[in-house]
Amino acid sequence: MAIVPSSVLSSAETFPDVIVTLLGASLALIPLYFTCLMVYNIYFHPLSKYPGPKSMAATRIPYMQMVLSGRYPQKTRELHQKYGNVVRIAPDELSFTDGDAWKPIYGTRIGHGQKSKDDRFYVPRAGAADIILSNDADHSRFRRLLSHAFSDSSLRGQESIISSYVDLLIKRLHENVNTGNNVLNMVAWYNFTTFDIIGDLAFGESFDCLKSSSYHQWISILFSSLKTGLYTNVARRLPWSNYLLALIIPKSVVSQRNTHLELTTQKVKNRMEKSNERPDFLGNILKHNNTEKGFTLQELVANSSTLIIAGSETTATLLSGVTYLLLKNPHALSKLQEEIRSAFTKEEEITLDSCNKLEYCLAVLTETLRMYPPVAVGLPRIVDPQGDMIAGNWIPGGTIVSVSHLSASYSAENFTDPEQFIPERHMGDPRFANDSKNAMQPFSFGPRNCIGRNLAYVEMRIIMARMIFNFDMQLDQPGYDWLDQNCHLLWEKPGLMVRLQPRTITN
Ligand code: HEM
Repeated sequence: MAIVPSSVLSSAETFPDVIVTLLGASLALIPLYFTCLMVYNIYFHPLSKYPGPKSMAATRIPYMQMVLSGRYPQKTRELHQKYGNVVRIAPDELSFTDGDAWKPIYGTRIGHGQKSKDDRFYVPRAGAADIILSNDADHSRFRRLLSHAFSDSSLRGQESIISSYVDLLIKRLHENVNTGNNVLNMVAWYNFTTFDIIGDLAFGESFDCLKSSSYHQWISILFSSLKTGLYTNVARRLPWSNYLLALIIPKSVVSQRNTHLELTTQKVKNRMEKSNERPDFLGNILKHNNTEKGFTLQELVANSSTLIIAGSETTATLLSGVTYLLLKNPHALSKLQEEIRSAFTKEEEITLDSCNKLEYCLAVLTETLRMYPPVAVGLPRIVDPQGDMIAGNWIPGGTIVSVSHLSASYSAENFTDPEQFIPERHMGDPRFANDSKNAMQPFSFGPRNCIGRNLAYVEMRIIMARMIFNFDMQLDQPGYDWLDQNCHLLWEKPGLMVRLQPRTITN
């Protein structure tokens, strides 16, 4: 039998004790570390002078809860109402409502380039970059090439494509009403229309949503992947986020993403086989793709997807919102009916040019963009290392900053009677002379603002004018507060049930 020396025995007994003691001490230090960090964040951090709840100054957890709750825009708005036009919403993040904040945050000025996008919010995708997620060099290449597709002359060329889908929308609505189905979910019908239009402009073929009265597989996958993006946004703020994401994102989502990529690549390839003379997005891009540093196939695929989501859901959201707000505000509805029904005697007269003359219609759309901005959350940018002045405040380098769309629109400092739907405020009514119109920038500001703004206005004006020309509308549930919605990056719009009554048109 072997005899173990007593010195060895005693060290064998004490070694685990040392480890346990060290571990215990380190575990005890963790709460101490976090307590010190929170005290530092609240009282000594360079942003400590900015107002906001102490819990949000201490850690990012309340911010993450706010994002996941689906009430991010509304909660930020409440914070601004309580704390004023600059609020600290996380230890290193400020939200603004001041109109003067747009330029320094989203624009370019002498001595300051563009502020970079926060890549925890703008989660990079696998594969090629697109116009929204690209770095500055790629962005200016993409933007230059895409601008051909969004020029005035391209827009005029696209008018017949747009009108053909509006014809189909009106036809399908009449068919439904004629068969006794006169209470329709206008959220779905506007979505079908804008997806069909953008599908045709991006891929040279529509998704046939209007024909089939349903969403195409391509769109259903896209909607589900957007929600995953929100969880990714939160997860990327945690340590070891890449491993965490690999664990929490279900395999079904990864396989859906691959299916989506294959479908898109096929659609882009199909379109590339057609003529470049078609006035759609790809026709315009491909004409210039050889003469300038162009898109690769992967970049075309990534940008086509982005154009579709950026250009369809936003416009359908605004159309749903304007329908609801008009039906809740009979005075504005009857003024718009008067303008449209007296301007046109035949439906064919409703065109891009004739709609541009409808001043009240434009004011109604602008007021809806204020009260129900399709992009409602603040879009985060990072202050350059040397720091910057934003709306009269010195902001240290590295701070995340944004203007919150919804909060700026509902701020009583920016707008008189902000809760009221009053299109006249955009038509020179003296009661609203003090409104800070520049505080609302629903299409954002600067070099990365919305490239599709004019296209959106053409679609919204023509569709609204033709809806009002064809139908008298009423809310099926007038007491229901349809604007009370969750927002996970995009508004989660419940059905908007509208009773349609075809108008008798007298020439
Ligand atoms: C009412 C309708 C619309 C609204 C409110 C809207 C709003 C916006 C906003 C706020 C941004 C800035 C995004 C950011 O900084 O992260 C943006 C960018 C963009 N929008 Fe729109 N949009 C609308 C319609 C459209 C349409 C019809 C298209 C056409 C396909 C479009 C294409 C784009 C693109 C490509 C970008 C990225 C531009 C860039 O980064 O250079 N949008 N939009």
